[in-house]
Amino acid sequence: MTRIIQLADIHFGTENPVALEAFETALAETDVDAMAICGDLTQRGKRAEFGAARDWLDRFAMPKLVVAGNHDTPLLNLYERVVSPFERHDTYFDDLAEPVEVDGAVLTGINTSRGWQTRKNWAEGSVNLEDLEAAIADTDQATGTGKTAFLICHHPFLSPPDAPMRTATRRGRRASRRLAQSKVGFLLTGHVHSPSVTVVDDEGDSYVAVSAGTLSTRLRKRPASFNIIELSDEVCTVTVFNLHGDRFVPEQPHMLSPHFSQPETHLTASAEQG
Ligand SMILES: [Fe+2]
Repeated sequence: MTRIIQLADIHFGTENPVALEAFETALAETDVDAMAICGDLTQRGKRAEFGAARDWLDRFAMPKLVVAGNHDTPLLNLYERVVSPFERHDTYFDDLAEPVEVDGAVLTGINTSRGWQTRKNWAEGSVNLEDLEAAIADTDQATGTGKTAFLICHHPFLSPPDAPMRTATRRGRRASRRLAQSKVGFLLTGHVHSPSVTVVDDEGDSYVAVSAGTLSTRLRKRPASFNIIELSDEVCTVTVFNLHGDRFVPEQPHMLSPHFSQPETHLTASAEQG
């Protein structure tokens, strides 16, 4: 059994102390192989917020992969946003940007956030297709030995159904198609502050898009939450854990049924909402 924990949008600066403490409790009771942190670790991209996020993540001993979110750039410093938008983020998290390989899984990340854009909403995502290609290549060797590959980024490539906000990720459709054609099995994202599990089917090629909720106080219709993905030869599940009072309670797992032992086989699973 391989177990990956996915969290996003912790937003230190507006973090939810009850959720963070409950998360630690939940993690102490669960064996996790790797942690995927899908961006927006801070609220305003302040050094103190990055420092607090790093201190908190350092409490957890498992391998981690961190990508930046659109909040992880200095909110009010236009000069830095243009010239070196992710310098602060990289100062604190550069060592957690590399691909992570564990028993049964490989995780790799790309940055879909931008310091500024030539459109009005700078919060939206943008995929650099060369970055995507390089990330897919990073996983080739591991998928060749039967491991399941996860791509981590902040912005969903396609707007998740039923999410409380629509997203418009640049080159998202092309990126989604490319991902479906690759051997990467999962796309793990944040940004919408609402959990979802979707099998994205692109003309017979597919992957599973999993969106994480938030551990901040910036709730959008859903309680604070995180996800756990469990992989075995027989079954794969994605479970959303919602904050109820001061503890996290699992929802009914989303059942997926690919056979990960054959890396050339694309995921053709169906998600069932519990
Ligand atoms: Fe975001």
